[in-house]
Amino acid sequence: MHLDDIIYKRQSIRNYNNQKLSDECINSIEEFIDNVKPLYPNIKSDYEIVDSSNVKTIMNWKAPYYIQIYGQDTENCFKNIGFIYQQVDLYLQGNDIGSCWVGVAKPRKYKDDNLKYIITMAFGKSDEDISRSTDEFKRKSLDEISNNYDDKLNVARLAPSAMNSQPWYFTHNNDDTYNIYRKKQNIIKRRILDKLNQIDIGIALAHLYVANRDSFEYFTNKDYEKLDGYIYEGSFKI
Ligand SMILES: Cc1cc2nc3c(=O)[nH]c(=O)nc-3n(C[C@H](O)[C@H](O)[C@H](O)COP(=O)(O)O)c2cc1C
Repeated sequence: MHLDDIIYKRQSIRNYNNQKLSDECINSIEEFIDNVKPLYPNIKSDYEIVDSSNVKTIMNWKAPYYIQIYGQDTENCFKNIGFIYQQVDLYLQGNDIGSCWVGVAKPRKYKDDNLKYIITMAFGKSDEDISRSTDEFKRKSLDEISNNYDDKLNVARLAPSAMNSQPWYFTHNNDDTYNIYRKKQNIIKRRILDKLNQIDIGIALAHLYVANRDSFEYFTNKDYEKLDGYIYEGSFKI
């Protein structure tokens, strides 16, 4: 299974059955998480796989399993978590296991470590077909998310985001590298989306990494161009 193929057919799954996953399957998910490439190798993160009894949520649906995700409370932590766990989302869906990021959930009992709770990802089996065709994605056009039309950004365009807000914008540099920016939300939306949109940026970068595994490099450009209405998040090569 190639994770980059899943980018074009994944979707958030909110309809689960109660089928138990084998210990072997759960172990393989844990092994994948433990070995996934982070965006910031020095930022600590951790997780716990729990069932719905340890999840407080206002959602009107439940999943049989949840990954409760923790991270070191520092700048870029949210982007790092988006980057790591979007690879997990693709891994799950590539193994015919539905998944959905859940911003509006909290653990009932927090894992006992010094990290901050960040977000949850629901997962489990569904009776429905969990994949869809690329033309069913509801997304902005490539023109709307970049200063130049560029097919290489299509994988980022298809990335999931909180409330489908798609807060990313890309610009091109003369040396074939790119900059990624995050939309500044208005004061009302900012209260809900500020942290979640930082996760979204990591998610878009994960798609760019998975589709360009051998060439992807992420870095900070101190001389980045300021863009009105956007926050600079980083630069990359693909
Ligand atoms: C950071 C983040 C938080 C999200 N939180 C929720 C949530 O609390 N409840 C929910 O049903 N979906 C949630 N989603 C799923 C998005 O609504 C979904 O990704 C988006 O609408 C695009 O749809 P798709 O994933 O099917 O392509 C979240 C997604 C992300 C990336």
